[in-house]
Amino acid sequence: TWTMEAYLDQAVRAIRERVGPDERVVCGVSGGVDSSVTAALLAKALGDRVVCIFVDNGLLRSGERAAVVDMFGRHSEAELRVIDASERFLTALEGETDPQRKRVIIGHTFIDVFRDEAKSIPGARFLAQGTLYPDVIESGGSPDAPAATIKHHHNVGGLPAELGFELIEPLRDLFKDEVRRLGIELGLPEGQVWRHPFPGPGLAVRCLGAVTRERLEVLRRADAIFLEELRAAGLERATGQAFAVLLPVRSVGVMGDGRTYESVVALRCVDTDDFMTADWTRLPAELLARASSRIINEVKGVNRVAYDITSKPPGTIEWE
Ligand code: XMP
Repeated sequence: TWTMEAYLDQAVRAIRERVGPDERVVCGVSGGVDSSVTAALLAKALGDRVVCIFVDNGLLRSGERAAVVDMFGRHSEAELRVIDASERFLTALEGETDPQRKRVIIGHTFIDVFRDEAKSIPGARFLAQGTLYPDVIESGGSPDAPAATIKHHHNVGGLPAELGFELIEPLRDLFKDEVRRLGIELGLPEGQVWRHPFPGPGLAVRCLGAVTRERLEVLRRADAIFLEELRAAGLERATGQAFAVLLPVRSVGVMGDGRTYESVVALRCVDTDDFMTADWTRLPAELLARASSRIINEVKGVNRVAYDITSKPPGTIEWE
């Protein structure tokens, strides 16, 4: 019978057959489930012949970079290179408010940064990608897969050819739940394997309007509080995705005996099987109340919190 243990053995063997003893694999990691499992699997097969690249684009959630570094330190033999490219990304995004153009800028900057780093790795012949079976089907040109055309989904698709890499996609036979089981089999922590997805363009598509360091920091803090409360209520695993969005509007409020005029944060939480459709989560009112009052009290510059009650369709999960 088919077990994850047997699958793992066979996957490790296949990777060792393909990658020669003097060759190396470059693996982009994002902190997400797919790239973490890809990296762990490759590391098990090849040890330090795997070089992982984590690009800090300045658009990450609170604690994200530290969490990736920590996970690698504990669970992987692979080399991890952390590239601080926040200045480059934020400069490129300066003054841009259009959602599609933000994505294009981020996609291009990512490719430039990644390419510069990958060039400096001797013996690198392969580029690993955490492509899953559903991605394989979706990119097979199905006319009823509109997601890719509604938004410009950035990935590293252009990279292998441009850099002369061969692609290695060790998860391409697996569905998401199998990837999680493989992650557990590889010894990744439960919390890592059950993470919500996070978009490549990061907080830029949740910071509506101009993306500045100050606005990102407000968003980051509100988002962290919401997720903290969701976890405290034991609801992270039960929901598909949850996050805060910083709106480009201010509203009037009252604090003490003074009038305030500050930013609005929207909270979004969805239930979904496949992220193609989604329903807004009926979160407990007490949880929303706690998140709201904490955000307003603890995050300077925010005086109002709204909860998004739009399903997909007609809404998308992200606001941009
Ligand atoms: P939407 O907003 O299209 O999102 O309903 C569906 C899922 O995809 C994620 N998403 C992205 N992931 N790059 C990614 O890697 C992107 O550009 C991107 N845009 C959206 C989104 O977070 C949700 O899980």
